[in-house]
Amino acid sequence: MNKLEKATALINDESHYNADCTRIDYYNLVIDHAHGATLVDVDGNEYIDLLASASAINVGHTPDKVVDAITEQAKKLIHYTPAYFHHTPQIELAERLTKLAPGDSEKMVSFGLTGSDANDAIIKFSRAYTGRQYIVSFMGSYHGSTYGSMSLSGTSLNMTRKMGPMLPGVVHVPYPDLYRRLPGESEHDVAMRYFDSFKKPFESFLPADEVACVLIEPIQGDGGIVKAPEEFMQLVYKFCHENGILFAVDEVNQGLGRTGKMWGIQQYDNIEPDLMSVGKSIAAGMPLSAVVGKKEVMQSLEAPANVFTTAANPVCCAASLATLDILEEEDLVNKSKVDGEYAKQQFLDMQKRHPNIGDVRMWGLNGGIELVKDRETKEADPDFATKVIYYAFQHGVVIITLCGNILRFQPPLVITREQLDKAFAVLDDAFTAAENNEVEIPADAGKIGW
Ligand SMILES: Cc1ncc(COP(=O)(O)O)c(C=O)c1O
Repeated sequence: MNKLEKATALINDESHYNADCTRIDYYNLVIDHAHGATLVDVDGNEYIDLLASASAINVGHTPDKVVDAITEQAKKLIHYTPAYFHHTPQIELAERLTKLAPGDSEKMVSFGLTGSDANDAIIKFSRAYTGRQYIVSFMGSYHGSTYGSMSLSGTSLNMTRKMGPMLPGVVHVPYPDLYRRLPGESEHDVAMRYFDSFKKPFESFLPADEVACVLIEPIQGDGGIVKAPEEFMQLVYKFCHENGILFAVDEVNQGLGRTGKMWGIQQYDNIEPDLMSVGKSIAAGMPLSAVVGKKEVMQSLEAPANVFTTAANPVCCAASLATLDILEEEDLVNKSKVDGEYAKQQFLDMQKRHPNIGDVRMWGLNGGIELVKDRETKEADPDFATKVIYYAFQHGVVIITLCGNILRFQPPLVITREQLDKAFAVLDDAFTAAENNEVEIPADAGKIGW
């Protein structure tokens, strides 16, 4: 078991200065350094990282190529604002991202600093292009923490409580859930039931010709790694086309190889989004985001409608170019797919031994493992999940929960088979320890998770 003397003292100090709303508490991990899929804390404990900084480190921690790119660029130019002038890393990256985006239409890009502002940009561009005001998004979605992106989100009361009113003109509809079906329902039935719910607002209070865009996560991330049925996604896409509504996807969490495809939306057949937001892993953890969209949509606003002084920072753009190189050179998108299938099988095997594992969802190295009190009722079991992640942490594996009861499995895509196997052995023990009530959670742990 790890010892946490320095970490505990540092966290006690920090608690005097750091506002509570800035961190969801799990356990006392104070990271000192990291490489690949290994983290080392300030007490010298080593951990296998199954979270990849919330899917922001797909190419692994401190990859040499990214570190070199950052160092070289920092020596040349740390920043000059893209609001007025140009620099080469941004020019190169803009071209590369537009070519990488799904579909054949010509694309353009606008850079920001964080996934949240890229989703705000989706509101701006879609309203400007269509001249319409409403945006449809989904319950269970997480789109970020600026006012626009919080208004689009639908996953935590703490993201609206005490801060309203939110941005007007956002309508939330339910995101399909294939795990908790009605009795006897097929996947087709689920798709149709949720498509009916999707259409309800349009039939009762929301004129389709006043809707600017539908924004959807191809796979909901913070909502529990939940993928909509193919049929549902195609019906929504078609509905948008038929009604002049832009179809926008949030790739902040699921993009850049996470699902075993370059983009999450490529999990579905032949969908070309009008707009997509990108962030997190785009620059291996450096602050950079982008909205990429069809040229005519991106040309609907004039400067300074989406300008940020420190956006497209040259050091971040250089890191991003190196990150895209690594994804390609190390074939990480395919590795994510192959290792994801392997990981899924490991969890399915564990499901046979551990009755609290209700559902195993996995696309690429990207899993939601839903823990329940009993498989018949599917009642969520957050206490059990907390015990599992605590035991894992105490034994050198970093994994957290989503929605209280869902294990979030999103390791860096460079994780080795040996590391995966080690992590699965610890998780297997963690399930047994939780079943036998043998996990010790410190009395002062407080509220854990979302
Ligand atoms: C799907 C999705 N969109 C947007 C965001 C917001 O990104 P950021 O926290 O970088 O602003 C997140 C962050 O978790 C996310 O998962």
